[in-house]
Amino acid sequence: MPRFAPDLVQRFYDRSTPGFARFGQGGRTGAIRRAVWGPGVTDRVQAFHFVDHEIAEHARALATSAAPLHLVDLGCGVGGSLCYLAARLPMRGTGITLSPVQAAHARARIRAAGLADRVTCTVGDYCDLPSSIGQADLAYAIESFVHGPDPVRFFTQCRDLVRPGGRLILCDDFRGETSDPAAARALDRFRSGWHVNTLLNLDEVQAIARLAGFTLHTAMPLTPMLELGRPRDQLIKTFLALFGWLPLHRTRLGHLVGGDALQTCLRRGWLHHDLLVFARD
Ligand SMILES: C[S@@+](CC[C@H](N)C(=O)[O-])C[C@H]1O[C@@H](n2cnc3c(N)ncnc32)[C@H](O)[C@@H]1O
Repeated sequence: MPRFAPDLVQRFYDRSTPGFARFGQGGRTGAIRRAVWGPGVTDRVQAFHFVDHEIAEHARALATSAAPLHLVDLGCGVGGSLCYLAARLPMRGTGITLSPVQAAHARARIRAAGLADRVTCTVGDYCDLPSSIGQADLAYAIESFVHGPDPVRFFTQCRDLVRPGGRLILCDDFRGETSDPAAARALDRFRSGWHVNTLLNLDEVQAIARLAGFTLHTAMPLTPMLELGRPRDQLIKTFLALFGWLPLHRTRLGHLVGGDALQTCLRRGWLHHDLLVFARD
């Protein structure tokens, strides 16, 4: 039994998405994730699209014919990545999210971008994909894999989804090595604040991927490119130092508790943020 069943994750995003859309760092990009100040990035908008830019490069390398590529976003949020990619690539895109609230935001974004003939968004679970999705040339999951209740099931579904020779890209947090008891407490605060079920180390994720027919193609460490300890993070830390004794993780402020713990884990090397590209055998 996962700690956070899909309906709890769904409610978490149904509840928090309007706030993320209005006040989130991702602003008009629609990104519900962290900015990555990778090579070539000069401003915040580019930082929020850095991972999309990397995905676009891998997709371009797969395009061998005139036929449009099919890209599937597993945990698509409000469709920011799909809209970015579809504006730049000959492709059709399918997004899947647990949250009906996010799907409504995504459909409005897709229509506003004039992409409704090529991009769709479906409410569903990436561990139980509808067969109507068809095969993908490339599937990706940005900061959504950690929510999943069962990584084996995730990769098994991806084996059926991604065509042989295609790519599966994960951008997420993975466990580092530590025996520090403080790590267990911080990881637990991260899990409960952000509704996280799956925290694997790189060996574990590779072993599960290999059994499902995926081989690691490239791994890009992103932790050094994240913003850690910004003034707003310091403010949140101060607030939690004063009020952290309250059961905030059970309230609408739970994501602040999780985010603060995540920053600690990343700084101490208990977690690292990576972009993993797998090739489907
Ligand atoms: C942190 S948000 C990231 C959204 C988007 N990838 C982005 O980068 O803006 C996590 C997303 O994962 C989705 N998600 C979590 N578990 C899921 C599942 N089992 N099936 C489908 N989507 C899931 C949530 O609905 C949400 O859209």
